[in-house]
Amino acid sequence: MNQLEKKNKVAEAALQYIENGHIVGIGSGSTVNCFIDMLDKVKSKIEAVVSSSELTTKLVESKNIKVIELREAGKIPIYIDGADEANKFKQLIKGGGGALTREKIVAHSSSKFICMVDDSKYVRMLGKFPLPIEVIKMAQSSVAMEMIKLGGRPVLRENFITDNGNVILDIHGLEINEPIKLEELLNNIPGVVTNGIFAIRSADKLLIANEKNIDVI
Ligand code: A5P
Repeated sequence: MNQLEKKNKVAEAALQYIENGHIVGIGSGSTVNCFIDMLDKVKSKIEAVVSSSELTTKLVESKNIKVIELREAGKIPIYIDGADEANKFKQLIKGGGGALTREKIVAHSSSKFICMVDDSKYVRMLGKFPLPIEVIKMAQSSVAMEMIKLGGRPVLRENFITDNGNVILDIHGLEINEPIKLEELLNNIPGVVTNGIFAIRSADKLLIANEKNIDVI
């Protein structure tokens, strides 16, 4: 099974978590795009969607499903998203697609976070995938210096501006053995909008597509 087939399988498995009358938070990325493609199957159950990116909004609206603002939704019963890396504690690295800030906001506002990955993203220690950090442009070099002090190698994501008008630094070479601590530490650096560690608010269920089936942890 190739990676796209696994993404489709895990996206299909996530559909079963949607219940009648749900407001559904939806993340961003290629796995999420597979999930949105299948939403016709459960559309009648969905009251509305809270979206984590401009692209997700466009795709969901193209399915004739209503997208509402977070302030209209209040507490969201379920959030469904992908990840770039996940560990056995359901802590994640996200932001490969650059939508990490809105994703973290929607995840934080949701009662249940279902995360869909394929087995290539399931790791013992987070950090092989370069950690995305959304940064206010003015602070690009001061934040980069802090990352070097922490042992990382920051790379500015070329020709990329987030939906919030900021830049992304991808930090290579970090060994993230204490995800919650590092997430908190990075949150405290002036100019950092959001870092891509999702450990303070980790996933509640991790669906992992492998060759044969879907593991749920
Ligand atoms: C978007 O910013 C990301 O957080 C995605 O959720 C994550 O990168 C997973 O994306 P793919 O499903 O495309 O691998």
